Amino acid sequence: MIKNDLFLRALKGETVDRPPVWMMRQAGRYLPEFMEIREKYDFFTRCRTPELASEITVQPIRRFGMDAAILFSDILVIPQAMDIEVQMKPNFGPYLPNPIRKAEDVDRVVVPNIGDSLGYVMDAIKMTKEKLNDEIPLIGFAGSPWTILCYCVQGQGSKSFDMAKGFCFTQPKAAHELLQKITDITIAYLKEKVSAGCDAVQIFDSWGGMLSPTDYQTFSWRYIQQIVDALKDRAPVIVFGKGCWFALHEMAKSGASAIGVDWTCTAQNARYLTGGKITLQGNFDPARLLSPPEDIKKMVRQMIDEFGKDRYIVNLGHGILPNVPVENAKAFIDAAKQYAP
Ligand code: CP3
Repeated sequence: MIKNDLFLRALKGETVDRPPVWMMRQAGRYLPEFMEIREKYDFFTRCRTPELASEITVQPIRRFGMDAAILFSDILVIPQAMDIEVQMKPNFGPYLPNPIRKAEDVDRVVVPNIGDSLGYVMDAIKMTKEKLNDEIPLIGFAGSPWTILCYCVQGQGSKSFDMAKGFCFTQPKAAHELLQKITDITIAYLKEKVSAGCDAVQIFDSWGGMLSPTDYQTFSWRYIQQIVDALKDRAPVIVFGKGCWFALHEMAKSGASAIGVDWTCTAQNARYLTGGKITLQGNFDPARLLSPPEDIKKMVRQMIDEFGKDRYIVNLGHGILPNVPVENAKAFIDAAKQYAP
């Protein structure tokens, strides 16, 4: 049994004294103790070494006492396992030197055995669970198939993901084959993560909002729905789509336990679009963590009042920025933990 089960209770829609809180990308570059490890080991070494990944996962918990931990890893371990080379270039981000651009490239993509190619993630989960000692739940995650395709085809981050979109629009058959391969491996991967000890899973559709509502259905949502269908009886599933307010209605009917909301959507609108019954997570503007701590606290209290304390998980509307002062992150977490209606 998990001692602090606020997060799991909020996912079930139970009444709570205060909403749980965690931050997307909470294990990372705004923490001095993370930067120390970062100086010694490159990115994928950190991901592949269970001692390091589990240590980085619990660093923000020790400092701030969030109500959930998220495993330190990356969504791009999936293309790596599919035998697509992924580099993490300092001050640049992900770089895939051999991107997928045609049908033959898709044919070459392998759907690997999870235990062989991603066993290190399962080892990191087990070690993290030991360190957490059942104090709080552990979240496992994966990118959505569309968001993974974006990197596989574009070969790097992008403001428009024009090549990824062009690939889908000119070679839809190959695109759907690739999306289905990514979906199949993601389902197997998340099932293994739950078996290894993750208490909930989150799907990051970070680039879903790049698509029009119609294209979103075709190239993103239908694959996310397959993942939700396959996982929902094993663990609670959270779906976060950045810029995807237009899909909130459909997401609410998907069987997911909670839906992530970004900061461009009001709490009232998000509740309206999701029918008022499902748990919502979000949606503090990550840049607002640059405000003075007292302002942050005031805004967090207001955000909770607007979403309501029940069926709600306090979070940012996207990942924390690297230049956020540690005391500002602390103000965010403290405000949620001190919330009294
Ligand atoms: O939430 C957590 O703290 C767990 C760790 C986590 C990382 N990546 C570690 C990381 C999670 C949940 C991710 C997910 C991820 N990775 C997403 C989806 C979430 C989102 O922000 O939209 C995406 C799109 C990626 C791909 C990715 N990885 C990018 C674009 C970059 C470079 C930009 C950046 O944020 O630094 C990464 C690298 C990365 N992943 C870092 C970390 C801590 C920084 C690199 C480093 O530490 O050397």
